[in-house]
Amino acid sequence: MTFRSVTSRVPTTALNDGTAIPQLGLGVYKISRDEIVDVVTTALAAGYRSIDTAVDYGNEAGVGRAIRESDLPREEVHVTTKLFNADQGYDNTMRAFDASLARLGLDYVDLFLIHWPVAAADLYVETFRAFQALKSQGRVISIGVSNFTVAYLQRLVAETGETPVVNQIELHPRLAQRQLREFHSAHGIATEAWSPLAKGSFLDNEVIATVAGAVGRTPAQVILRWHIQLGNVAIPKSATPERIAANLDVFDFELTPEQMDAIGTLDSGVRVGPDPETFTAGLID
Ligand SMILES: NC(=O)c1ccc[n+]([C@@H]2O[C@H](COP(=O)([O-])OP(=O)(O)OC[C@H]3O[C@@H](n4cnc5c(N)ncnc54)[C@H](OP(=O)(O)O)[C@@H]3O)[C@@H](O)[C@H]2O)c1
Repeated sequence: MTFRSVTSRVPTTALNDGTAIPQLGLGVYKISRDEIVDVVTTALAAGYRSIDTAVDYGNEAGVGRAIRESDLPREEVHVTTKLFNADQGYDNTMRAFDASLARLGLDYVDLFLIHWPVAAADLYVETFRAFQALKSQGRVISIGVSNFTVAYLQRLVAETGETPVVNQIELHPRLAQRQLREFHSAHGIATEAWSPLAKGSFLDNEVIATVAGAVGRTPAQVILRWHIQLGNVAIPKSATPERIAANLDVFDFELTPEQMDAIGTLDSGVRVGPDPETFTAGLID
């Protein structure tokens, strides 16, 4: 398989530590161990240069294998993984990171995230101190968080002196996260959208369909383009080769301000995933 060199096709988002992340990457939640090598290989061949995995997805080994077996230089592929809830705490984090890196079979990870705050356990500050140590050792390039609220972000920055480079949050037209996005941009935190397609749950929405008809694109491409124009980093998941390719093909058209506003009216605060304030899976069940 040939791997197109398309580093210029997908724009990158600058991060507050001087690095950058492709604005569109592949999410691999729910992609099985049997499928993962083929799916990541397909995505890299289609031009993806960013893969978002996690310990909790059980597929780090396949992600790493597909990257190692591609003919791409390691530095051309941005790899994110996440520390899961039961591994929070300083020593646990160091051990869990060693295990992630071993499963990935890589020398470093580009971005390491605290997957969920699990505020009830009160370990996320200590955990982020371990992240700072991993960064200073060069085994992690950038450190960030996921599913953090404004209050958790404020405490993290106040107590560690370090601003996470990204906060990866549930974000799609039904849950536009205006307040959190404004806080991020005021504090130099990149907004990364998980479930950017709301798990495909409203691709048949009338407003989306009307815009899709007007621009001659699919509903999924319209939603992904909406993310790009808002300045979000988006990590749509697909295990279907045609969709993997189509989801990346959103950089040669634009939505008008009116079309952006029309999609903006769909925000109803409806989640497709868990509430970050109460999600404690793996730790406090
Ligand atoms: N940090 C967190 O707590 C967190 C939580 C959830 C997710 N994430 C990350 O975010 C990534 C994306 O989120 P997600 O997987 O929940 O949902 P998503 O990307 O919003 O949607 C994925 C679903 O949409 C379908 N789909 C993808 N492209 C499509 C297209 N062009 N047309 C029609 N259907 C399409 C996929 O089906 P097929 O695969 O069958 O094509 C799949 O069922 C995850 O994979 C993971 O990396 C992070």
